[in-house]
Amino acid sequence: MEQKVFFIKTFGCQMNERDSEIMAQSLAGYGYVEGMDMYAADLVILNTCSIRAKAEQKVMSQLGYLRKIKEKRADMKICVAGCVAQQEGVRIIERMPHVDLVIGTQNIYDIGALLETSTSKGSQVVTDLRNDYDIPRFLPELSLPGATVSNISPTPSFGFRKFVTIMQGCNNYCTYCVVPYTRGREVSRKVSDIVDEIKVLVESGVREITLLGQNVNSYGKTNQVDLSNENYNFANLLKDVSEIKGLVRLRFTTSNPKDLTDELMRCFQDIKNLCPQFHLPVQAGSDEILKRMNRKYTIAQYTEQVNKLHEYCPDIALTTDVIVGFPGETDEDFEGTMNLLETVKFHGSYSFKYSDRPGTRASEFKEKVDEEVKSARLARFQKRQDEISLERNREYVGKIKQVMIEETREDGSRGRTGTNHIVHFEECLPFLPGDIVSARIYFAGQHSLKGKIDS
Ligand code: SAH
Ligand code: SF4
Ligand code: F3S
Repeated sequence: MEQKVFFIKTFGCQMNERDSEIMAQSLAGYGYVEGMDMYAADLVILNTCSIRAKAEQKVMSQLGYLRKIKEKRADMKICVAGCVAQQEGVRIIERMPHVDLVIGTQNIYDIGALLETSTSKGSQVVTDLRNDYDIPRFLPELSLPGATVSNISPTPSFGFRKFVTIMQGCNNYCTYCVVPYTRGREVSRKVSDIVDEIKVLVESGVREITLLGQNVNSYGKTNQVDLSNENYNFANLLKDVSEIKGLVRLRFTTSNPKDLTDELMRCFQDIKNLCPQFHLPVQAGSDEILKRMNRKYTIAQYTEQVNKLHEYCPDIALTTDVIVGFPGETDEDFEGTMNLLETVKFHGSYSFKYSDRPGTRASEFKEKVDEEVKSARLARFQKRQDEISLERNREYVGKIKQVMIEETREDGSRGRTGTNHIVHFEECLPFLPGDIVSARIYFAGQHSLKGKIDS
């Protein structure tokens, strides 16, 4: 088979990162190898995100740039995948006729085959989104080509940390969000498929797994995931996965407070290899705004969950997502968000200015907040969050933490705590990525810690 080179650029969330891996695996079956040089590649894939207008603009400008390259290299193929592809479909080809393939979020498994036919067919748009999940159906999740639990031999170079998708889509319809439209209806993968896949990964050297989905704590709600137990839920899955021999660390993302049960919170106490880290997006600190966002919880309920989480797991590090300037957000509403920062003191947060997205309900809401007001609110929020993150990080100084090594180099090493804090070491350490070391933290910055091996 003639060898061809693909280059893939991934935008957006971890779901997209995982999808890029899947496309890479599909392409491997068609004679493609991954290259690092976009200009020399036979195939360039943009795996796109449309969560905010800016993310989408980035894709369009990249495509404009690729047009110039393709003028000089007519044999280069260009593929647009991901959420912009799903949402815009044929409109991408209309604006950017040099694009060869637009491939939707549920069609990525076929990328290799579709590229074969695209030579004879001209530009193709394949964005079927199946929402008829009456019969539980999950697309084949590729992990290692041809691997089953018994035939795989350990390959340490495979990496020590992996994402495993446990569900796709979202049914929540938060009024600002495109995901239910770009990823389709929520459907959970079968427990046995997930567990088997993780066994394969762990046997091949993976030490840390992150379970992925837009709303992992509603796992199992929309279709039966375990034929022997129709009430099987996310807490059950965490327990089952955590017992896989050789799995050192387990994480998951993302959760919605409306589906956070006591049983799940208790997992942070009961499951020893579940990392004490929880990303729990709150979005806003005002009940009125939460209601109009269709989030289905109140700030009182959220803070109660936070308190319980601390009760079950005093060391837990909480992070969140926040949107400022949602339509109709008053100064008072925004003060609610600022107050929440003081009550919870999140270890970190991702904050965004509200962005109108096509097809969402909020895009039709009147009372849009001025851009300058949004910017000022965001700056104020981020400044205070930075101070709080530093305060939080300083709590680690003088403590001994278990750190999983990620990289060792001549000029220093890097690892991560269970709480998901990056720790830098000044020296080259005699450890491999995935090894756990005990480190004494001696310095805290805003975004990372510094440590020395504790011996
Ligand atoms: N499923 C996750 C969120 C996925 S999107 C959850 O429910 O928490 C990641 C983040 O992008 C969201 O948490 C939200 O804070 C932000 N976001 C989504 N739509 C947005 C929009 N229209 N404008 C600004 N931020 C948005
Ligand atoms: Fe979007 Fe809400 Fe679904 Fe998260 S839960 S993906 S914010 S609709
Ligand atoms: Fe973006 Fe789609 Fe993820 S919109 S955040 S890539 S699900």
